[in-house]
Amino acid sequence: MNLFDVYPINEITIVKAKGSYVWDQDGQQYLDLYGGHAVISIGHTHPHYVQRITDQLGKVGFYSNSIRIPLQQELADKLGKVSGRPDYQLFLCNSGAEANENALKLASFHTGRKKIVAFRKSFHGRTSLAVAVTDNPALVAPVNQTDNVIFLPFNDQSALETCFQQQGDEIAAVIVEGIQGVGGINEASAPFLQAISKLTKKHGSVFIADSVQCGYGRSGKFFSHDHAGVDADIYSMAKGMGNGFPVGGILIAPHIRPKHGMLGTTFGGNHLACAAALAVLEVIQQENLIANATETGNYLMAQLKKIPQLEQVRGKGLMIGFDVPEQLRDLRKNLLWNQHIFTGEAKPNTIRLLPSLALRKKDADEFLEAIEEEIHAFA
Ligand SMILES: Cc1ncc(COP(=O)(O)O)c(C=O)c1O
Repeated sequence: MNLFDVYPINEITIVKAKGSYVWDQDGQQYLDLYGGHAVISIGHTHPHYVQRITDQLGKVGFYSNSIRIPLQQELADKLGKVSGRPDYQLFLCNSGAEANENALKLASFHTGRKKIVAFRKSFHGRTSLAVAVTDNPALVAPVNQTDNVIFLPFNDQSALETCFQQQGDEIAAVIVEGIQGVGGINEASAPFLQAISKLTKKHGSVFIADSVQCGYGRSGKFFSHDHAGVDADIYSMAKGMGNGFPVGGILIAPHIRPKHGMLGTTFGGNHLACAAALAVLEVIQQENLIANATETGNYLMAQLKKIPQLEQVRGKGLMIGFDVPEQLRDLRKNLLWNQHIFTGEAKPNTIRLLPSLALRKKDADEFLEAIEEEIHAFA
């Protein structure tokens, strides 16, 4: 049976991983600044993470949400503390798309409304509502097409205000990434996020902060929207939450009260997923990884800005992007094949860095040396 290739494949088979490094079957080491698409938050095979999941697997790996799972409460308590939102409610699921799907659905249940505001270059996932609010027609099947989504330009406060003036009472939710990931590392400005917060409050709509990629400490704050000093009504999370174990969730503000049936899941919040998510939060706290994301991210960004061939170096913490001019279009490929460094991309010409939050200065230096070498090779 042939496999469906989810993405274009790099002919590399990874057989071992540790911290910010992975190794292929020939023993070649690679520096991982991609984190399997922003997923590896605390580093590959962190010993505490491996131990906690292994211990849990030996006790009970799964039972459904029809019984008490105390690990879920433990996770909710810790998440409340680390995120600074102890009064929110936690619903656990399995992926980013599923988190957004549930966030949007809950917003509609809560308001009794149908319209959703989303933004140009957004990416929110591939399931029905999540893809309907994603600004990429190639991903939207005919059955996902709907008149209920209004796309506005990103960071355009006056377009947002006009939209609310005209149809504010029909808007169930505004969904926005604090820093657009797939769209190319575009930061939502603080005044823009503050305007979303104000307008959704005024019109009784729900502010959904998609934190699937930019959340979980990556930006140097737990949620990247925190940089703007706003509180969203729902935060969606996944990726870094389980460091590779599939776990997602939404944090729901206290004034939204879902009833039985509005949210449901078979696998969400299972014992193994909770053990993985708890291990991640424990390591984030013990190793001060959010502060490290700021420190190492600021250092990396400052050094990248000194390289004249790289354009528009941008981002926050360890969510960094820069554009490469046409003559360096093979830079990312060359970093992988010549320097053995994984990076991410965003079409047409952005390189994205989404490493583990435990990235050390010496790993950053290794990358900086390698990128200079590759840039000079083009000269
Ligand atoms: C901002 C954002 N939201 C949602 C998703 C979808 O997450 P998943 O692939 O886990 O469904 C992604 C994935 O890249 C994302 O970047």
